[in-house]
Amino acid sequence: MSPKPDNIPLEEIDMEFSARRQKARTQVNKLDRELVHDEPERDWFFNTVYDRANNDAAQIPWADMAPKAQISKWLSANPGNGESALDIACGLGDNAEEISDAGYQTTAFDLSETAIQWAKQRFSDTKVNYQAVNLFEPPQPWLNGFDLVNECYTLQALPPQMLEKSMQAIGALVKRGGKLLVYTRLNPDDKNADGPPWPLLAKDAFRFNEMGFRLDQEEHFTIIRGDRKIPHLFAQWYKLT
Ligand SMILES: C[S@@+](CC[C@H](N)C(=O)[O-])C[C@H]1O[C@@H](n2cnc3c(N)ncnc32)[C@H](O)[C@@H]1O
Repeated sequence: MSPKPDNIPLEEIDMEFSARRQKARTQVNKLDRELVHDEPERDWFFNTVYDRANNDAAQIPWADMAPKAQISKWLSANPGNGESALDIACGLGDNAEEISDAGYQTTAFDLSETAIQWAKQRFSDTKVNYQAVNLFEPPQPWLNGFDLVNECYTLQALPPQMLEKSMQAIGALVKRGGKLLVYTRLNPDDKNADGPPWPLLAKDAFRFNEMGFRLDQEEHFTIIRGDRKIPHLFAQWYKLT
């Protein structure tokens, strides 16, 4: 296969991968919907999906195997110069690598030890410091520790009763004067979603402004998957306090 064009999800350009992904999506969705949606079960769910995948990325429904286009565009306009960055719940590492390539000294973590080992294996020459860490038990030096924090698709992957706690945990990792990027689906009807995932209500997506952040940029866009149009928000926040 010729090299993959940047930023295009692998399932959109490789038909064989796409067929395996569709099958896996059905199985993972079934597993997900049968679970109680609370914290221990969420941890078990993510660990199980990565462990069962057996190194086949088609089995990880959210893994595009490419950085997100909005994040790449933002990084082109805001390159790092050795500043510190943290990628939240990095999965298989594509966004973390993009942040590192843009000049940030990058740390990336995920709950799943399997995901972390997999990311290291995919990017064997990586400069990213990959670590298996739970968002709710960060190493103490990480608190208020990073110039740039990138959050992509984690808030919507955790049940609504964990949202406040998840936002607080993410916000706590940004330095005063640092930036926070949030990439998430938005719930178009502004009604509680029947997740998972749980696309954020607009009022919730903007709650970082009640947590010591100022909104500096917002981009609303739609991702088309088959016949589905999925509203998204990419926001840049600045930590005031
Ligand atoms: C929908 S995936 C998104 C992965 C990646 N950010 C991306 O955009 O491809 C959500 C990720 O959150 C991770 N995760 C869930 N709960 C977590 C927690 N408490 N601490 C750290 N990672 C967590 C999962 O293992 C999974 O990799």
